[in-house]
This record gives sequence, structure tokens and C-alpha cells, in this order.
Amino acid sequence: MTVVPIKHRVNEWPGSEAVLFVTGYDEVRAALGESRLIIHKPLTGNTEETKGITQGSRRIAPLSSVLSEHLAAREVASLATEVQTLTDEFARNLQREGQGDAIEGLASPLPLNIMARLLGLSKAPAGMLRPLFDRITAGHDFGATTVEQQQGRMALQMLVRWLNHALKTSVEPSPLMTAIRATAEEKGMEPAIVHYWCAMLLYAGSTTTRDFIGNILAALLARQDLVHVLLREPDALDSAIEELLRVEGPVRGLMRQATEDLPLGGQTASRGQLVCLMLIDANRDPARFAEPERWDLRRSPNPHLALGANLTYCLGSHLARMEAKNVLANLLPLLPYIRSNDTAAWSTSRLLRGRTQLRLSWHG
Ligand code: HEM
Repeated sequence: MTVVPIKHRVNEWPGSEAVLFVTGYDEVRAALGESRLIIHKPLTGNTEETKGITQGSRRIAPLSSVLSEHLAAREVASLATEVQTLTDEFARNLQREGQGDAIEGLASPLPLNIMARLLGLSKAPAGMLRPLFDRITAGHDFGATTVEQQQGRMALQMLVRWLNHALKTSVEPSPLMTAIRATAEEKGMEPAIVHYWCAMLLYAGSTTTRDFIGNILAALLARQDLVHVLLREPDALDSAIEELLRVEGPVRGLMRQATEDLPLGGQTASRGQLVCLMLIDANRDPARFAEPERWDLRRSPNPHLALGANLTYCLGSHLARMEAKNVLANLLPLLPYIRSNDTAAWSTSRLLRGRTQLRLSWHG
């Protein structure tokens, strides 16, 4: 199912002629702070659940300060033990069974469980939610067909409804949910909008980290030399995560729409035009990163754009880093004994870059 592998063929993406691609580091970074570019939201506005969310609704504001506070580095550190437990469980199963799928067994359920814990859900069934997430991704994708958009809308609707029900039946609200509800009430937000953002939070926090964990495991299994470097120099783990975000980050590009004619990266975006900010190219721009194709686990500074920048910088960045770091730290000693049997099964998404499966075998 290889559709758009590592080397993205942007000019072959359907509908690419009409879209303005921004690829240089400085240009992408500047565009991420450009308020005349609004986030393209092809799935919203049409259903009961999303009618209050329009093309112009830029940020997860008014909830963003609540999220910054509850997803701060110190807050998410308390979830590290849970990440370790889930990773150990996967490693034990792999050793016992001799084989396993790192996406199904670890990369997919782990961030989902953590998001469920943060939102105060008593359970988050990966088997039911993963197909909904995949449909939402496909509906948002570059060149999505009308049918894919319609399916994405329905999946989003189902996710909002499921989450609403799960929150009602959860035993005790989490500190994050309590803060979200209090802020929503104080700011007079409509419940439907709050439910939409919570569903998008569950989706954003689960799918990107899933893809990132899958990407870094696959990448390091193919580069055992780097595994040995990290085993010898564990203090390089933090900078290694940044370098892995730069080269193996799961977001290829972000879609925007121009609200007026504006100059962009030496081109002109006309009013209403779709613009694709290519994070993957910006992160490999030789004008910004020396030897961009080389993985330098101690690269410093490393101002990659894998988590966005400026107005919409990722609110889950600490959580994503904490999860990836703990998974890696726990699995590192085992990686020399693990082989990947897969010729990577890539997801069909153009804007996101992740694997649908990563079969491993144990050779300990
Ligand atoms: C490796 C994992 C992750 C990556 C690569 C990633 C990447 C990104 C990127 C590129 C953006 C900017 C989107 C835009 O400008 O249109 C973003 C925004 C966002 N991310 Fe993440 N993300 C990750 C994990 C997470 C997690 C774990 C959460 C939730 C706990 C999260 C929540 C958000 C939210 C709420 C926003 C919107 C911010 C705003 O509009 O103010 N992300 N993320």
C-alpha cells in the first residue's frame, strides 16, 4: 500500500496545479505566522456537531491557555510511568510471542490511552476509534474526493457523539476536563463547540504521536549504528528526539487558505487559493540545516518545524516528546535484537506520514 513514501511526489498529488506550495524554511516559518492564511477545515460547518466551526476559526482558542497549562512539561511528566508500563507490556509480548506489530501493539494504543487518561475517559477502544481517525485524516487530506470528505464528516460526527457519551458516563472528570468545562462556561462557549474541540484533541493527540512512534522505530531499526550511539550516549536522547522530529516527523504539510492576495515565498497567493506549507521540505532546507539529509543526533540548534510554529504551535508538544522519549528509552536496549520484517506499509495520506503496520520479530 505504498502511496506517498518518504520522497513525496508533490507534483503528482491530485489537484496540485491549483495549490501554491511553500517549501523553503524561512518562507514556511513566516507563513505559519501569517494571519491572512487561515486553516483549511474541509470537514466542518455542515453538521450539527461542527456548524459553529467555520473556515476562519483559527485556533483552539479560548481553550488554548487551559491546554498549555495542563499539557505543560511538568504536568505531562507524571504520565511517564504509564508510558513505560505500556511499552514494557508490548516488549514482553514481543519477546514471548517472537513477533508483533509495533503499530497495533504500541504506537496506536499508547497515545490513545494517554489521551483517554487526560480527558478522563474510562476506556478508549482503539479497534473502534482507529478507523474513525483514519477516515477523518482521509477527509482532511490533500486532494480528498467528495466521498472521502463526506465519510470524514460522518466519522467526525461519530467521534464527537462517542466522546460526548463517554464523557457523560466516565466515573470522575479529569483535571483537564474540569478546567475545560469551567473555561467553556466562563467564556460562554456552546457545548457543541467544546465537544468538537475535545474530539479533535483526542484525534490530534493520538494520531500524530502514533505516526511519530512508528516512524522512529522503523527508522532506528534500519539504522542500528544510531541505536548503538544512543546506547553509548544516553544523554543524546533529547536532541535525538528533535532530530527524529526533523527527519521523521509525521506531518508532511499543512493546508491553509488565503483570505486576500498576498506575497508568499516569492510567489503570490490569490484570495481564496489553497496553500500547502511543506514542513517536510522546510525541515530539509539546506539554507537552514547543514547537511540536511544527515541524521545528526546532537544537532544544535535544531529549529525544525515538525510541531508547527507561531500562531498554531503544537499545544501537545511536551506530551509528544515525553511519549516518544520514554518509548525510545525503554526499547533502546532491545532494538539490537529486533528486526522489522516489513517493507513499510505506508498510510495513503498525503499530508501525514505514518505506517499502517510495522511487523517486528524478536531475535534475543
Ligand atoms: C509527534 C506528535 C505531534 C506532532 C508532529 C504534532 C504536530 C502539530 C503541528 C504541525 C501543529 C500545527 C498545525 C497547524 O498549524 O495547522 C499542531 C497543532 C496542534 N497540536 Fe500537535 N502534534 C503532535 C502531538 C500532539 C499531541 C500529543 C497533542 C495533544 C495532546 C496535540 C495537540 C495539538 C493542538 C491542540 C494543536 C492546535 C494548536 C493551535 O491551533 O493553537 N499535538 N501539532
